[in-house]
Amino acid sequence: MAINWDALIAAAQQVRKKAYAPYSQFQVGAALLGKSGRIYVGCNVENASYGLTICAERNAVFSAVAEGEREFIALAVAGKDEQVFPCGACRQVLAEFCNDLPIRIVGEDGSQTETSLGELLPKAFRFEHR
Ligand code: THU
Repeated sequence: MAINWDALIAAAQQVRKKAYAPYSQFQVGAALLGKSGRIYVGCNVENASYGLTICAERNAVFSAVAEGEREFIALAVAGKDEQVFPCGACRQVLAEFCNDLPIRIVGEDGSQTETSLGELLPKAFRFEHR
């Protein structure tokens, strides 16, 4: 399936506005394209007990799985700049469902970085390694 990056990026930028980040003021939005063609979004949600914060990327994955989607085609992450790469925990959660995944990070000014899950988390730990 061809990836409509413009639509995916727009969805990530849109959901970024809903981020609940009163402690860090660091808003992040993520949009995950499922194999079905549907887009699942997530934003970071912080908490007064800081460690309970969940990142945008994981919220997008969990939302997709809750809708029955487990295979993914692409991920767009919208942050302050094009260097807001998914954290280690989110990389591991993505690796549960994807062998590899093209990822674009987009900043407020539209600047973009292209990467992939394989590049961000080579030699991921997976079910078959247990
Ligand atoms: N955060 C994300 O949502 N995704 C990332 O890729 C990096 C970090 C959030 C977590 C926290 O709410 C804030 O950004 C600052 O770390």
